[in-house]
Amino acid sequence: MDPSEAPKCDVAPATASAYLDPNYWDRRFNQEEHYEWFKEYSYFRHLILEYVNPKSAVLEVGCGNSQLCEELYKDGITDLTCIDLSSVAVEKMQQRLLTKGYKEIKVLEADMLQLPFEDEKFDVVIEKGTMDVLFVDSGDPWNPEPVTVSNVMAMLEGVHRVLKPNGIFISITFGQPHFRRPFFNAPTFTWSVEWKTFGDGFHYFFYILKKGERSSNNIEYIEKTSTPTFSLYHEELESEDYLFRTNLDGM
Ligand SMILES: C[S@@+](CC[C@H](N)C(=O)[O-])C[C@H]1O[C@@H](n2cnc3c(N)ncnc32)[C@H](O)[C@@H]1O
Repeated sequence: MDPSEAPKCDVAPATASAYLDPNYWDRRFNQEEHYEWFKEYSYFRHLILEYVNPKSAVLEVGCGNSQLCEELYKDGITDLTCIDLSSVAVEKMQQRLLTKGYKEIKVLEADMLQLPFEDEKFDVVIEKGTMDVLFVDSGDPWNPEPVTVSNVMAMLEGVHRVLKPNGIFISITFGQPHFRRPFFNAPTFTWSVEWKTFGDGFHYFFYILKKGERSSNNIEYIEKTSTPTFSLYHEELESEDYLFRTNLDGM
């Protein structure tokens, strides 16, 4: 066989634009059983459990082959719905959860830009690294392409719609506050916006958006909150996280 035809063992794409291609994710999930974007649950469990409890109806957007939903289940959160655009991810996740006995977790094939749920259904919506996919071809992060803006707003409008009146959106991301705030603070949303960080060396952002809690003080609070310092050493990131990050914030 010509060596150039040999199957690639590495599932990382040649360029980050591939993350926008649904076929890329299907191919990848056919080969890969588990990959945890950014960090595993133990790194941010203390943060998530401040906002989620066993009575919460939770939606995870873009579950991929992550173990986040299982970890939440083990912590007593059983009303869980996961969605992903990739039919392969969904089928494999359904199988994995059934095998492990987590039968109550619902896993559906769905597009986060057109969430197929009624208004005000969930107490908490969580995404980890999924919204970041929409930014990989955003161009100048200070002035993103119109298609990026329209897709990110479609996602956020859907999340806001399916949250209960006092629901919470948790976004776990590389995306720094100066690039995320213009979206989160769009006038159409009623949520307040705060963030925390986690991770050693490199910090990841853990945004908490509380629906119905926006106030003018909130804007002031955000402006006063200092952006944490963080280092950007390649060695501190998994190689694929690095590929993702360089495209998100135009390092
Ligand atoms: C960077 S991965 C993150 C996976 C997982 N959340 C994690 O933390 O490991 C992005 C995921 O978003 C999914 N995805 C991409 N576009 C999507 C869309 N429009 N709607 C739903 N899921 C999408 C991909 O299939 C992939 O599983």
